[in-house]
Amino acid sequence: MKQKTLSMTMLVIVSLFLLAGTRLFAVEQLLRGFGAETLTQTFSQISQVITGDWQRLGLEFTRLQGKIFWKLYLAAMTAVPVLFLLHYLVFGPKTFSHEGKKIAYYASLVRLFHWLAAISFTLLAVTGLMVIFGKYLGGGHLIMGARLVHIPSAVVFTVSAAVLFLCWLKDMLPTGCDLEWFLILGGYLSRKKKPVPAGKFNAGQKIWFWLATIGGLVMAYSGYYLFAFNADVNVLRGWAIVHNFLGVAIVTFFLIHLYMSVFVVKGSLKSMVTGFKAEDEVAIMHNRYYQRLEK
Ligand code: HEM
Repeated sequence: MKQKTLSMTMLVIVSLFLLAGTRLFAVEQLLRGFGAETLTQTFSQISQVITGDWQRLGLEFTRLQGKIFWKLYLAAMTAVPVLFLLHYLVFGPKTFSHEGKKIAYYASLVRLFHWLAAISFTLLAVTGLMVIFGKYLGGGHLIMGARLVHIPSAVVFTVSAAVLFLCWLKDMLPTGCDLEWFLILGGYLSRKKKPVPAGKFNAGQKIWFWLATIGGLVMAYSGYYLFAFNADVNVLRGWAIVHNFLGVAIVTFFLIHLYMSVFVVKGSLKSMVTGFKAEDEVAIMHNRYYQRLEK
């Protein structure tokens, strides 16, 4: 299927889901009518249908903040590396000779902003986790310092993520072979080196791209509210919940990204330095892209 047709199909499917979702959650309210006198009241009632009443979430918020979030982060930081260790021991890395022809893969602008994103994100993750685990680290100046580093890192990351989003968008749109890639889980659960159905980027890399860039921008937006503290307490609670849940997902996928690009596909890291990938690696790991280049 052509990329344009596929993107249109995805758009229609997503719109249908949104329509169905709205029907499910709002139909009753819509049928009853809002009965509000002013436009502001109407909007407030609509937003309550969509987001729920944060006023009533005070207790729930305290529970999430004090008891749940740090456990989720701890689980991500321990379970994910253990799974990787098991994967590495059972299936091992994908190694290629990396001799022969080189294929240009990452332009210098992409490499520059990728490294800015990598450094700023690492700082964001480390300082963010220090804030989450603040009480176990003694609090005080150390945690205040972590907050101070967190803010400028967020600015650098947001700019880098926006640039990378624009540079990579075209190659990160869903294509037909993404489904095939999922069916064999990218060939990572096998020691054999069979050609993998993937374009310039595989489906797993695409998920990371969307989560890191769009998710990263939502993190920045919600983080701005928490930093500026310039909103109603219930709005702040809402953004804190978004920031923390999304944070767990991004940290988890970041660990996956590190494991894949540093340990599993040997030589990946070099491509982010030089901009080139070896032909033997592209022929196997990005087979559809390689076939297109060969034509
Ligand atoms: C210390 C941190 C990081 C390291 C060591 C690292 C390493 C790498 C490497 C080696 C590649 C090339 C993979 C390949 O082509 O085989 C890559 C690609 C990529 N990186 Fe990173 N990266 C880091 C952080 C980030 C961050 C914070 C982002 C968020 C924007 C990011 C987004 C991407 C994307 C979207 C790609 C292309 C697709 C992919 O390989 O996943 N990386 N990274």
